[in-house]
Amino acid sequence: MNDLAQARILVVEDDAAVRALLRQLLGDAGCAVECAPNGPIALEACRRTAFALAMIDLRLPGMGGGELAEALAREFPEAAVIIATGVHDTPTAVACLRAGAFDYLTKPCDLDDVVVRVGRALERRRLLVENRRHQQELEARVRLETRAARRLFLGAIKSLSSALEAKDDYTRGHSERVSRIAGELTRRLGMAPREVRRVRLAGTLHDIGKIGVRESVLSKPGPLSAEEYRHVQAHSIIGERILAPVLVDSDTVSIVRHHHEHYGGGGYPDGLSASGIPLGARVLAVADAFDALTSDRPYRCRLAPEAALEVLRGGAGGQWQPTLVETLAQRLEYVWPMISRARGRGEAGPGDSLSNQGQDKAVG
Ligand SMILES: [Fe+2]
Repeated sequence: MNDLAQARILVVEDDAAVRALLRQLLGDAGCAVECAPNGPIALEACRRTAFALAMIDLRLPGMGGGELAEALAREFPEAAVIIATGVHDTPTAVACLRAGAFDYLTKPCDLDDVVVRVGRALERRRLLVENRRHQQELEARVRLETRAARRLFLGAIKSLSSALEAKDDYTRGHSERVSRIAGELTRRLGMAPREVRRVRLAGTLHDIGKIGVRESVLSKPGPLSAEEYRHVQAHSIIGERILAPVLVDSDTVSIVRHHHEHYGGGGYPDGLSASGIPLGARVLAVADAFDALTSDRPYRCRLAPEAALEVLRGGAGGQWQPTLVETLAQRLEYVWPMISRARGRGEAGPGDSLSNQGQDKAVG
């Protein structure tokens, strides 16, 4: 392949006769040549149109050739640069090479040598550009495939979570409803769409850690022993461990870890309080409790939404953030039909006691 053919070359030379000679020489070799007498005009020309190569006289008036070469390297990293120097400027030319110039010519130049060196620089530049593009394509493909693998894995975890809930009529659809309630609350709080998505995802996955809780404990109809309760409590940390390698967004993982913290302190796993608890986790705690209270249990019927709200108000400041409880109260007319529809569509069974067994105790 002839790299000279149609290659756009910029000759930056203050001597008009040398400019004309180089234009003729490189034009005869098949290049599309443009000339500039100094650095600023050369830069303007580069901004107007892309050049494959700039041949720059080191000793230009005003902006020197070295300075121009640096400016081009910064602004047009794909352009090859050849420096033309006098014999005594060789150390400066070597410095230019170190700074990224492709080659240097010593004036007076052998004309055949100029064409050979330009051709060689163009070939090297082509290989570099191809290599860079290839690398960018590879990186983009790796990014895409990593994202696809994560999506796939996340999908599997979501399926696992809903399969875990679906084993029991009392838990079916709980996480999806919690996700919807929490999404509505975050929207009402004016949180950015990205935050809303984060809280919704955390809602969908918040109890995934129950996969690590013994079945006999999860399905126990009566009160839990202290050891069993501690075992159930571990689900928030287990959830964090499951999700951390899959989710790039560590904030979502953090919401899952802290969804059983209490606003006034004393929750688990870390006993955080107030603003020490991620906002998404505080929102999730309200949504989780509301869905638990309005769901049937083996040992009690679901509460009406207004009665559930009163329970939340009773625990406001202790277990739940008061302003979030009131946000739910303000949106109850919207939230209640929404989760009722979710239950009616078969996304939820008659109740949710399983995933709320620990929660129920927290609710009191
Ligand atoms: Fe939970």
